[in-house]
Amino acid sequence: MKKIICKNYDEMSKAAAKIVEAQVVLKPDCILGLATGSSPVGMYQELIKSGTDFSKVTTFNLDEYYPIAKDNDQSYDYFMRKNLFDHITVKEHNIPNGMAENPEEECARYDAAIEAAGGIDLQVLGIGVNGHIGFNEPAAELPANTNKVTLTESTIEANSRFFESKDQVPTAALTLGIGGIMKAKRIVVLVSGKNKAPIVRELFKGNVTTNIPVSLLQLHPDATIVMDEDAASML
Ligand code: F6R
Repeated sequence: MKKIICKNYDEMSKAAAKIVEAQVVLKPDCILGLATGSSPVGMYQELIKSGTDFSKVTTFNLDEYYPIAKDNDQSYDYFMRKNLFDHITVKEHNIPNGMAENPEEECARYDAAIEAAGGIDLQVLGIGVNGHIGFNEPAAELPANTNKVTLTESTIEANSRFFESKDQVPTAALTLGIGGIMKAKRIVVLVSGKNKAPIVRELFKGNVTTNIPVSLLQLHPDATIVMDEDAASML
């Protein structure tokens, strides 16, 4: 796993944006896997500013709350429109349907759509303070495919900052599984802030465990972690 340490959040965002831009220049019709949360927002701003031509790019987001409507301003669909898709033109963007009647069918449909598109060329990820990637929470076993998960107390707590109160945070989500993430040809992980320093330290201890889902990325042949000095401060 490669690591790039940047001075601060802005530098991290620029470094990650360069990786995404290079991917799009190299393969204009590439498939990008995207994430929500605070970590990639600066990178999305850099991508918008860059003037890169995304018109042939297809995107698949990692996850969506369940149940949640697209027009709910807490949905990841809404987040992606506000932070990226209202500002750039992509060929097609996909997010799991948080209102699907049958979530299991929706998960299978989503995996099939990624497969049919040719698979993810570059997956962008953030890390939860507990080491989750997507909504794959620490557990003895982790599902390979896109699946519906119940969120842990720590994730509900962490995500409550975006809601008026903690009890408004949905308790479930649809998320790409570990297999779906690992199938991406390249992975770039963005990490910033002192609160992520302990999990970054765990990650670079070199052990692989489903109790720290991000640690599984050490088995990926082309994963890069781009972090700021605060996130790297316990290394
Ligand atoms: C978001 C996602 C999550 C976040 C993680 C970090 O689509 O799947 O795994 O990447 O919770 O969130 P932030 O960036 O807000 O610290």
